[in-house]
Amino acid sequence: MKKLTGLKKTKTAVFISGKGSNLYNLIKFSKKKNSPILINLIISNTKKAKGLKYSNLYKIKKKIINFKNLKFAEKKILICLSKKKINLICLAGFMKVLSKNFIQKFNGKIINIHPSLLPKYKGLNTYEKAIINKDKYSGCTVHFVTSKIDSGKIIIQKKVKLSKNESIASLKKKVQKKEYEIYPKAIKKILN
Ligand code: GRF
Repeated sequence: MKKLTGLKKTKTAVFISGKGSNLYNLIKFSKKKNSPILINLIISNTKKAKGLKYSNLYKIKKKIINFKNLKFAEKKILICLSKKKINLICLAGFMKVLSKNFIQKFNGKIINIHPSLLPKYKGLNTYEKAIINKDKYSGCTVHFVTSKIDSGKIIIQKKVKLSKNESIASLKKKVQKKEYEIYPKAIKKILN
């Protein structure tokens, strides 16, 4: 059967604070024919985020928001989101905590990628924790964002096996490879 064309894609904003390798991966995904999203906006809390370079490279609008005053920052973000008619927010290495009020406004439309098998190891330093605790497995999780950090409903998880001499760097590499697989899958899962 002929595929329907012209179906509306979901306008998406990606929030970053650092390297932006997940952002890059999502941009590549968004350019695929069967992708349900368009990335229209990149938000960062710092101008130092290396991932901001993808804004110029792929002609995606970027906005750097100072988070010294959370209320003011979120107000500014909400204006940008509404101007761009954003319907989905993907957090990708975004290091600021969003308020309950902001999350409620976007209820069910904010997702995050976290480098552990949640509910294990919420928060920071997940690779170190897995290695110190001699875990057999680590992995990554895409989940809905709620006001409790790293606690919203899980959409997809993927495991990786720790090897004997696993280092933080080697584990990060392994886990991130899986992140690039599951973030697009999770988006397809919630939008299709
Ligand atoms: C990812 O590993 C993600 O799990 C965590 O932050 C990291 C961001 O990396 N939330 P990058 O900026 O996408 O390269």
